Amino acid sequence: MSKAKSAFFCQNCGHETPKWLGKCPGCKEWNTFVEERTEKTPKHVVSFSRSSQAQQAVLIQEVQKSEESRIALHDFELNRVLGGGIVPGSINLLGGDPGIGKSTLLLQLAIKEQLKVLYVSGEESEQQIRMRAERLGLDNPNCYLLTETNLQQVLLQAEEVRPQLLIIDSIQTLYTDSVESSPGSVVQVRECTANLLRFAKQTDIPIFLIGHITKDGTIAGPKVLEHMVDSVLQFEGDRHHIYRLLRSIKNRFGSTNELGIYSMQGNGLLPVANPSEVLVSIGSEALSGVAVASMVDGIRPLLIEVQALVSSAAYGTPQRSSTGFDVKRLNMLLAVLEKRCGFRLAAKDVFLNIAGGIKVDDPAIDLAVAMAILSSNADLSIDKTISFAAEIGLSGELRPVNRLEQRLGELEKLGYKKIIVSKYSKGIKGHKHQIEIIPCTKIEEVVRAVFA
Ligand code: TYD
Ligand code: MG
Repeated sequence: MSKAKSAFFCQNCGHETPKWLGKCPGCKEWNTFVEERTEKTPKHVVSFSRSSQAQQAVLIQEVQKSEESRIALHDFELNRVLGGGIVPGSINLLGGDPGIGKSTLLLQLAIKEQLKVLYVSGEESEQQIRMRAERLGLDNPNCYLLTETNLQQVLLQAEEVRPQLLIIDSIQTLYTDSVESSPGSVVQVRECTANLLRFAKQTDIPIFLIGHITKDGTIAGPKVLEHMVDSVLQFEGDRHHIYRLLRSIKNRFGSTNELGIYSMQGNGLLPVANPSEVLVSIGSEALSGVAVASMVDGIRPLLIEVQALVSSAAYGTPQRSSTGFDVKRLNMLLAVLEKRCGFRLAAKDVFLNIAGGIKVDDPAIDLAVAMAILSSNADLSIDKTISFAAEIGLSGELRPVNRLEQRLGELEKLGYKKIIVSKYSKGIKGHKHQIEIIPCTKIEEVVRAVFA
């Protein structure tokens, strides 16, 4: 009798080894290897004999262009993040922390769009989903539900129903009999996705998969999963706040620069059309410790309120705490402020908060963070018509930011009057907006311009 084949797989990154290891050589995580049975497959030998249905090579100019018929969605945020609708036969992966709203987003897609949809759930019962659907507003007379975790059954039902869209919540709960390891394991996830991919390409039915993410924020299961699918969307935000960001990390049919913003309400996720208006408190009186950053996330301009609280350190080690902003970066900025602006690092506690629980990647937020801290430290408020956009270097120099034109447009729309940027930013001269640009080279200069 031959021994069943097995191998050890890192549950974090999918690295495969024949024997157990304590530390994964791929992702350097500890204790992530689990033994999984692998399917016995006959070795394939590449042969050069002509088979009847073999594909012929064609000249690229002679390939027939097919009109890309995307399915446009009423949910304009999702529509935009996907690059203008769902591409037939595409397979899309939605990842995000537990409880962030992945199931809600896709259930909403299932019950609000006028499409024939099959919603497969391996996580909740039919009654639970029905209850949630009623809460969200059940508008679609053509939405089918299936609570099933066996992939073969799911595909059989999909064949029978022939939906225009197939939604799977979640890929980690599916299993196929062709491999013998538990659902959610690397081998299962890979195998199920491969089968779904084949199904999507053969039938032209687009598929949405929900994927769980691991503690470091990557989609659970092998990286291969991300390689296999056509697009990867990430749903993020702070669970204690109402705003959620939908980002595209990979998109074979569109740009990855798009950002969708939703707010989580009692009746589901509502698209936010003017995020800047809700993220900054316009019109209220100026308070110390608040600075407005002019951000661009992907290609979407956003105004964000940075709040800081600086107080005398009560204990030996001063506290640093930050929500929505990297603490290491905060420490670096504090060191720069100590050196350049006489900020007494060792004697102060610093708390930082980005309003709305939003996390931004744009380094242009640096200057607003520094100014909010200085404002709180001196207890001087910053004029409510000023905004900031510059990265700060280690010697306190302001570094230029991109897409100034868009930032100006957004500021103008919301009634801001001034923006402080690096002197070296492109597009300072000759813009057509009613915004005064104050170019500076160093953080000290900004302090003088703002608090003079
Ligand atoms: P859910 O979609 O179940 O999260 P995930 O599938 O990503 O794990 O979302 C769960 C959270 O969303 C839950 O904590 C309650 C909240 N929620 C609302 O605030 N309003 C709503 O209309 C719904 C359906 C959920
Ligand atoms: Mg869920």
